[in-house]
Amino acid sequence: MTRRQAPRPALDPRGHVVNANRPMAFVADESLLDDLLKLAVAAACELERVPDVTAARQRWSTAPLVLLDQKGVAECMAESMPPRGAIVVVATDPEPPELWKQSMEIGAERVVTLPGAEPWLVNALADAMEGPASNAGKVLTVLGARGGAGASVFAVAVGLTALKAGDNTLLIDCDPKGGGLDLVLGAEEEKGMRWPDMQLSAGRVAASSLHMSLPARRSGDAQLTLLSGARKGEGPAPDAVAAVIEAGRRAGEVVICDLPRQLEAAAWSAIDRADLAVIVTPAEVRAAVTAKQLARELSDRGASPQLVVRGPSPGGLRADEIAASAGIPLLATMRPEPQLAQSLERGMFHPRPRGPLTHAAKTTLNELATVSSRTHRGHTLRTAS
Ligand SMILES: Nc1ncnc2c1ncn2[C@@H]1O[C@H](COP(=O)(O)OP(=O)(O)OP(=O)(O)O)[C@@H](O)[C@H]1O
Ligand SMILES: [Mg+2]
Repeated sequence: MTRRQAPRPALDPRGHVVNANRPMAFVADESLLDDLLKLAVAAACELERVPDVTAARQRWSTAPLVLLDQKGVAECMAESMPPRGAIVVVATDPEPPELWKQSMEIGAERVVTLPGAEPWLVNALADAMEGPASNAGKVLTVLGARGGAGASVFAVAVGLTALKAGDNTLLIDCDPKGGGLDLVLGAEEEKGMRWPDMQLSAGRVAASSLHMSLPARRSGDAQLTLLSGARKGEGPAPDAVAAVIEAGRRAGEVVICDLPRQLEAAAWSAIDRADLAVIVTPAEVRAAVTAKQLARELSDRGASPQLVVRGPSPGGLRADEIAASAGIPLLATMRPEPQLAQSLERGMFHPRPRGPLTHAAKTTLNELATVSSRTHRGHTLRTAS
């Protein structure tokens, strides 16, 4: 039997072990590089400065994040570097002419200009140190086509199904008037923070502190963590929603956001980060009409929602007919969950293992696992402030 050898650690010229997880900067502009090194210190990040394109090539495929200035972009293009994700092009404001075009050509994820984008860059550097993006979790938003559509119940059902499948899961209640998702989960008596108790500074939170301070459910080694509303106080701010979602994503969790009917800034913050948006609709004509309006709002914002139809249908409409009239791809159909109202009342909701909710939840989780991540869709974004 041959024993597999541990990979050799990378060494610097003096023979010291280097952290292969370091982001790389190929930046010729000395003053810009100085700024980046300061931001890296603020992010507790070891930023590796590479002096030339040969050194850049050595780290090209392994660095979790690549920062390039205009000259770096030009040299990498001249060297025909292979495509990769997580390339960020940096410049000092104002953005130089042609930079945008060059950045798109090299497949950059984003062009950022300093000083406006400093906070964004600090977060990106800190994120890059936390682990490779391939472990990133996926984000699902759940919306109802009308009040009482079954969105919150479905969001919790997806969360519990993911937990049962062994996935660490973060369930986020983004509906300040929804009565609290802890009630749906039967966790309203449980200790732990709710939205009004959360003090998020610098737009960043660690998943580990969420795990310690929020109500949770466990199954084997997996944990479902719930951030619920509290039937009092303000709803979460958009930045707070973003910080919590990104914490879950960085930690590789399945992140599920239950959204309100009224889409305000905090809800859009979740939608903008979602890899998949699901609209739950009862099988009724009027709900199909409002689902269609909602889908249009979402697609105007760049999201591509899919439909979950909940029976029964009072008018005998089939799910595919509802989906066709709403103009939304049909993801799943579910019959009414037996005994649901009673189990919710008793605070003992759990989707039946072979029931309609579990079946639709599994279909949704499979779809979530296969959609390409929102963060890697190949659009070049601009961040200046
Ligand atoms: N899968 C289901 N099967 C049977 N009944 C359901 C199902 N989902 C929801 N319901 C019923 O609909 C009620 C409302 O569900 P839920 O709170 O999930 O709707 P919602 O879309 O989140 O509503 P809101 O507009 O208040 O946010 C539940 O209390 C339950 O009685
Ligand atoms: Mg709800």
